[in-house]
Amino acid sequence: MQAARMLKWKRQFIVVPMTDNNYLAVAVEIAQQAGTILREEFDRPPHIAYKGDADLVTQADKRSERAIVEGLTKYFPEHAIVAEEGTGHGGSSEFRWHVDPLDGTTNFAHGYPCFCVSIALAQRDTLLAGVVFHPIYNELFTAARGQGASLNGRPIHVSKIETLATSLLCTGFPAHKRVASPNIHYYWEFTLRSHGVRRDGSAALDLASVAAGRFEAFWEFGLNKWDTAAGTLLVEEAGGKVTDFAGAPYALGGPTILATNGLIHEETRAIAFDISQRDPASPLRR
Ligand code: IPD
Ligand code: CA
Ligand code: CA
Repeated sequence: MQAARMLKWKRQFIVVPMTDNNYLAVAVEIAQQAGTILREEFDRPPHIAYKGDADLVTQADKRSERAIVEGLTKYFPEHAIVAEEGTGHGGSSEFRWHVDPLDGTTNFAHGYPCFCVSIALAQRDTLLAGVVFHPIYNELFTAARGQGASLNGRPIHVSKIETLATSLLCTGFPAHKRVASPNIHYYWEFTLRSHGVRRDGSAALDLASVAAGRFEAFWEFGLNKWDTAAGTLLVEEAGGKVTDFAGAPYALGGPTILATNGLIHEETRAIAFDISQRDPASPLRR
């Protein structure tokens, strides 16, 4: 259902029908506000607390989340919001925002400028709009379903590289349950079979980089919906493919994710699946 709503846009209040583009416009405005907060906080000594042995949270995560949840609630009071630091709210709405107020907290806490705000809207299981904003590089990645993906307003597309051997890949290692992570086996194998594997520490930016053709593929384990919602739509709208290691369409929050330019998907997926069959801890092992 596309409701008509008051939208504050260019400092005027106008009544417009809600479309995926308008949802995106609101998400962009709010992501940029949150990005301003992250930039301010990045110039200050970080206030770090621990959620797990290497799972960090800072004042910046909390301030950014507060601004995003307030902003979304103001525009869409009946929508549900799932936000990483727990300040979202439920409800029976079929519209649900997935919010990572600071993806790349460990980088942020160490002064490594590789982090972002990630905001996406889903209607039941369908992603409608997504934004990933890198406030230090001022890179704004956006996507609306059926309308392509953009970087700072210019259309982006996945790369045209056709073989794994000539691809640059990226991955991530979960901050929690690190000892149980099987990823080192995949990292080893894919490093030997490609131009290399990067580990940048922000899943949302990793996915945005696949969408922009900077990486040919990204894989990881155990990511949450807020880590992947916006990035998944970016990759799909940029012409790429997102599945689990068995080849089923990626379900947000699923145990494995593989996002590629499409051209190397089957080659990469088959290797990932094969490794998973040798790993006793793999969620995919039969
Ligand atoms: C983390 C980052 C990282 C990934 C971890 C995530 P956070 O999110 O996306 O790249 O490897 O699994 O938890 O904690 O910085 O929002
Ligand atoms: Ca995250
Ligand atoms: Ca986060």
